[in-house]
Amino acid sequence: MNANMASSPTLIPFLLIFFLFHFHRSSSLPLSVENPEDDVIVSSPKGTFTAGFSPVGENAYSFAIWFSTQATTKTVVWMANRDQPVNGKRSTLSLLKTGNLVLTDAGQFDVWSTNTLSSKTLELHLFDTGNLVLREQSNQSAVLWQSFGFPTDTLLPGQIFTRFTKLVSSRSEGNHSSGFYNLYFDNDNVFRILYDGPQVSSVYWPDPWLVSDNVGFGNGRSTYNSSRVAVLDNLGEFSASDHFSFKTIDYGLLLQRRLTLDHDGNVRVYSRKNGEENWSITGQFKSQPCFIHGICGPNSICSHEQVIGRKCSCLEGYSWIDSQDWTLGCKPNFQPTCDNKTEYRFVPYYEVDFYGYDYGSSFSNYTYKQCEKLCSGLCECMGFQYSFARENGLFWCYPKRQLLNGHHSPGFTGQIFLRLPKNDVQENRVQNSDDLACSRNAEKVLERPYVKGKENGSVKFMLWFAIGLGGFEVLCIFMVWCFLFRSSNHLVSADQQGYVLAAATGFRRYTYSELKQATKGFSEEIGRGAGGTVYKGVLSDKRIAAIKKLHEFADQGESEFLTEVSIIGRLNHMNLIGMWGYCVEGKHRMLVYEYMENGSLAHNLPSNALDWSKRYNIAVGMAKGLAYLHEECLEWILHCDIKPQNILLDSDYQPKVADFGLSKPLNRNNVNNSSFSRIRGTRGYMAPEWVFNLQITSKVDVYSYGIVVLEMITGRSPMIGVQVTELGADQSHNERLATWVRERRRKAREGECWVEQIVDPTLGSDYDVEQMEILTTVALECVEEEKDVRPSMSQVVERLQSHDS
Ligand SMILES: *[C@@H]1O[C@H](CO)[C@@H](O)[C@H](O)[C@H]1NC(C)=O
Ligand SMILES: *[C@@H]1O[C@H](CO)[C@@H](O)[C@H](O)[C@H]1NC(C)=O
Ligand SMILES: *[C@@H]1O[C@H](CO)[C@@H](O)[C@H](O)[C@H]1NC(C)=O
Ligand SMILES: *[C@@H]1O[C@H](CO)[C@@H](O)[C@H](O)[C@H]1NC(C)=O
Ligand SMILES: *[C@@H]1O[C@H](CO)[C@@H](O)[C@H](O)[C@H]1NC(C)=O
Ligand SMILES: *[C@@H]1O[C@H](CO)[C@@H](O)[C@H](O)[C@H]1NC(C)=O
Repeated sequence: MNANMASSPTLIPFLLIFFLFHFHRSSSLPLSVENPEDDVIVSSPKGTFTAGFSPVGENAYSFAIWFSTQATTKTVVWMANRDQPVNGKRSTLSLLKTGNLVLTDAGQFDVWSTNTLSSKTLELHLFDTGNLVLREQSNQSAVLWQSFGFPTDTLLPGQIFTRFTKLVSSRSEGNHSSGFYNLYFDNDNVFRILYDGPQVSSVYWPDPWLVSDNVGFGNGRSTYNSSRVAVLDNLGEFSASDHFSFKTIDYGLLLQRRLTLDHDGNVRVYSRKNGEENWSITGQFKSQPCFIHGICGPNSICSHEQVIGRKCSCLEGYSWIDSQDWTLGCKPNFQPTCDNKTEYRFVPYYEVDFYGYDYGSSFSNYTYKQCEKLCSGLCECMGFQYSFARENGLFWCYPKRQLLNGHHSPGFTGQIFLRLPKNDVQENRVQNSDDLACSRNAEKVLERPYVKGKENGSVKFMLWFAIGLGGFEVLCIFMVWCFLFRSSNHLVSADQQGYVLAAATGFRRYTYSELKQATKGFSEEIGRGAGGTVYKGVLSDKRIAAIKKLHEFADQGESEFLTEVSIIGRLNHMNLIGMWGYCVEGKHRMLVYEYMENGSLAHNLPSNALDWSKRYNIAVGMAKGLAYLHEECLEWILHCDIKPQNILLDSDYQPKVADFGLSKPLNRNNVNNSSFSRIRGTRGYMAPEWVFNLQITSKVDVYSYGIVVLEMITGRSPMIGVQVTELGADQSHNERLATWVRERRRKAREGECWVEQIVDPTLGSDYDVEQMEILTTVALECVEEEKDVRPSMSQVVERLQSHDS
């Protein structure tokens, strides 16, 4: 306990401390009956500890022991009356004739006593260990009572923790009354921490699942030694009779030390040099503060970041009960109902775990839809966890009746789907995107800085193409003609002479002869695909460009083509390839793009050019580009053909997604299956929705993204070995890469590093294991069969960025 309050003389003008030693006054107690200047009544022989009245609030005091200090911040190690402070005036601590040590409030009632009885002469002695002892004066080994036997939240070196004692945390940093956490020896002899909250209680240390299924030895603990003792020694080793032990990081030094069950539910060992003011943490029981139960209250999620520390946040649709006290949690903003008319929506949370409070049993071999239906039908279901069990290869459904102990758990493979009534919340979110930078009517000048390509003839693969070699095998056509189309149409027709965007963006229309000249008569081909052929060219302003001649759009009407081009031209993101202009003249349809020095990801992957940090960076950049396409603009644009050939790399290996936009924007609110002609993406990267004729959403791109990432991780192409062009065959192969990775992860034994077994051998051991794990986990979620289980691209970005080094 740290009492932060200054004990100023004006605060306690007439604190009366009566020590009534009826038989004998202890020689070690320099007592005065009344001490108006100071609340200190006694210090230990060497002055390490002080006992006395310590302020805990306005005119409220507790009888306590603390490390002696000159500073205003004192470190309290024991309190007699933490839950019932006494009045600042005329409260007394007295040793009665009967041998009882009694703390009496000014109102003349007893607040605390040692309940001791003796006819001998007694004395009260404070040792340099911090132990306050009531003993016989004539026989000093006859101890009637000692503070070491009744710890509050702190254990000092040498203080034996027994089956009769427990530590109880304080309520908060500034409030010393009893809090929610208890450290104690349980009936099975295991040393545990219990969260004993207002509504529920649960053990969270040691991890309950580790102990419960290991009778005898769980988590290295023994249930057989019934002596139930624990002690911290002077050198910094803590050991308990259930075999739990640890050494502080400064083990071996003689320092001031204490072990405290802090108000946040963690046990920490602190140490400092004599005379120093600040403590350092030199050991703790839980390394992940968010895994402590009750820390954020119901319906909230705990997250922990290095810089800002622990943070609690309410779930979507919930708000704080008391924003000053996170332990109370969040309440719903909606009226929970239980009828079968309410429709629900399910909001996914990734890498978030809510411990416990499942609905009776769990349900194995459930599809996502079955699980959603199950939860919708259960009155109390507040959401469900949907997770894959490695052991049996099945999906499990865990409906939750309460959402407690929520925390971010990186690498946790289950997902939480929060149940919320369907209302206009989602609409609001869409409308909010109006505020984002890429509004339709943007007049601002888009920056497209000109980076001159390196004219270094000795670099062999310098001359690489901009627009995917195999790109355009397929274009995704067609989505719904929405308001966007209509208004864009209008835009085009209003602009007979040129192009409305031209002035603002530098995006312009080129003539056929201009581009013919730039490409020296289309002589330098740098790529070819079903959609068109790409040539390298130098524009009249000396910029190097990649110019794509489209075959497919030859038949398309001019205005329709312009509509699409106008949409693409307006997109501006560092991870999307920049388009500088277009050409539409007679049958000619051409697009002018920025030129990318390092070619495509497909080209770079086998060539050893990409180390791990480049690969991770590419995965993040791709995700950002796609998230922008899917979500950040008013236009919802699907790519539909994500593959390594369409990911281009600039001179710094920054990825840029190419070949997007010719798939028509998708009006989110109006996705309609039937208006889609069934055209597929590229073999190996196609989502199952295409094959099974299901609704096409942005999750098709998420799927393809996942495959590309798996390819980057493993160095294995999902295309290798595809023999037939038949759809079914492709699909099964497609699954093979994902399945192969899943299998390896599943088969890895506990504690084994599964990452080693999947990683691209050309990387060697030169990669960040944590990043590798998170990237693989995310990629596997992206390639889930069930589209609703896949994360959105912005969720992918968020998760990958939190592991960015
Ligand atoms: C002192 O007290 C202890 C503990 O009560 C007792 O064992 C011991 O015999 C006593 N010694 C004397 C001299 O009375
Ligand atoms: C400390 O917390 C307890 C329990 O919540 C509360 O009753 C008490 O008023 C608080 N004391 C102070 C000084 O805030
Ligand atoms: C039980 O634990 C205590 C304290 O760690 C130890 O001294 C004692 O030897 C142990 N007993 C057995 C039977 O292991
Ligand atoms: C102790 O900590 C305080 C606040 O963190 C800091 O300002 C002060 O400099 C520290 N004192 C020493 C001696 O390190
Ligand atoms: C749900 O609807 C069915 C028929 O529409 C009705 O029989 C049933 O009682 C309803 N259940 C609840 C919980 O309202
Ligand atoms: C899981 O469910 C599917 C379809 O209901 C069934 O074919 C399969 O055998 C089940 N698997 C197991 C292990 O029960």
